[in-house]
Amino acid sequence: MSNPNVKPATGKLGIMVVGLGAVSTTFMTGVMMTRKGLAKPVGSMTQYDKIRVGRGENKKYLHYKDIVPLAKLDDIVFAAWDVYPANAYESAINAQVLKKKDIEPVKDELLKIKPLKAAFDKNYAKRLDGDNVKQCKDRWDMMEQVREDIRNFKKESGVDRVVVLWAASTEIYVAPDKNVHYTLDQLEAAMKANDVDHISPSMCYAYAALKEGCPFIMGAPNTTVDIPAMWQLSDETKVPIAGKDFKTGQTLVKSGFAPIIGARMLGMSGWFSTNILGNRDGLVLDEPANFRTKEVSKLSTLESILVAEDQPDLYSDIFHKVRINYYPPRNDNKEGWDNIDIFGWMGYPMQIKINFLCRDSILAAPLCLDLCLLMDLAHRAGRYGTQRFLSFFLKSPQHDYTVDEVPVNHLFQQHVMLKNAIREMGGYEADEEID
Ligand SMILES: NC(=O)c1ccc[n+]([C@@H]2O[C@H](COP(=O)([O-])OP(=O)(O)OC[C@H]3O[C@@H](n4cnc5c(N)ncnc54)[C@H](O)[C@@H]3O)[C@@H](O)[C@H]2O)c1
Repeated sequence: MSNPNVKPATGKLGIMVVGLGAVSTTFMTGVMMTRKGLAKPVGSMTQYDKIRVGRGENKKYLHYKDIVPLAKLDDIVFAAWDVYPANAYESAINAQVLKKKDIEPVKDELLKIKPLKAAFDKNYAKRLDGDNVKQCKDRWDMMEQVREDIRNFKKESGVDRVVVLWAASTEIYVAPDKNVHYTLDQLEAAMKANDVDHISPSMCYAYAALKEGCPFIMGAPNTTVDIPAMWQLSDETKVPIAGKDFKTGQTLVKSGFAPIIGARMLGMSGWFSTNILGNRDGLVLDEPANFRTKEVSKLSTLESILVAEDQPDLYSDIFHKVRINYYPPRNDNKEGWDNIDIFGWMGYPMQIKINFLCRDSILAAPLCLDLCLLMDLAHRAGRYGTQRFLSFFLKSPQHDYTVDEVPVNHLFQQHVMLKNAIREMGGYEADEEID
């Protein structure tokens, strides 16, 4: 079965990644190694998951690619921007995520990915001091230069379509401002007036991508496309957006574990999450203004799963705290501890401890791949605006907060939304069954 309303994935797919650090080089190296048959894309839904289509006697379990037209890994062409001039090979080695033996076989391909000059403002990430940076008159000029990069990449590489993925450092927190971020006119005026306090570099990338017809994914917790002005631009250009913040380790566990407490009608009095992390991401997040962005994103998960208004006895007094501690010896191998204080029959307290010794970029890389392939698909299916079906992959899913829309954080509800969107784009009926 195929849906005539979804355009086929013909030609090459360009993936332009903002940031050529640990996550993006692990993503690129993994795709290249998989193409050569030297690695497996473990953790990727688009490469492994099977979805049931049809019911009763007609039911079948199919891979995504057999339901919808997905771009093939062989058709991906990468490009990147970064503040530092290191190419993707040097950056992959510096990141110390992958062993040399897992990088060397694709060295030649990685060497060719030389970062374009970044649209950057040091005030948004004080701990970074690279000099591979664009000289810009104002934020409008910054955006125009990114547009030119996208156009040049298309021309030089011959790709058919481009997706832009933010996997760069977390910027300082920019709170949505009703006078700047609520309409496209306001946003454009602020870019032209060089309002550097309200217009982050990431907004320039996103605006440029949408104007060039490229879906934009926000992998960090930045507010970038999580503002009404960008929703409007996405509607006008008919190009999809997704965000925000890859749901990799601790929040994945939280959004999968909290439903157990909620389903079993146990109470909760607190959830304390702490991490140690030693990579460049950890260094940037050691700055309080940058951590604030992450904190807002991480804190939003619990309250929509364990809803105080629905069960005041059980969830009206949850003390939720999240810490990230920069600790260089661990590099990318983040260790997270969660202490969960719950209570049961007659209010008697109990505790649960989770100790996750994870690898940040190993968890993030398959999300990058899935988000890029599914955003390219969504675009070809004529979808635009915030792609809620991708909430599964995101820590702080975008939602229309101007009308008090509640985001879906519950991992298993998110999985149903994802599967239904794939079914619909494949021309099958959506349903609520759980298999
Ligand atoms: N790994 C995870 O589990 C995970 C989960 C959720 C979100 N994230 C987010 O993903 C992002 C990338 O993480 P990472 O570990 O690869 O970090 P990293 O520090 O290794 O890489 C980020 C790169 O972005 C570059 N950069 C910063 N601002 C830029 C700009 N304006 N333009 C171009 N390049 C810019 C930096 O120079 C750096 O090389 C971070 O924002 C992080 O918070 C990661």
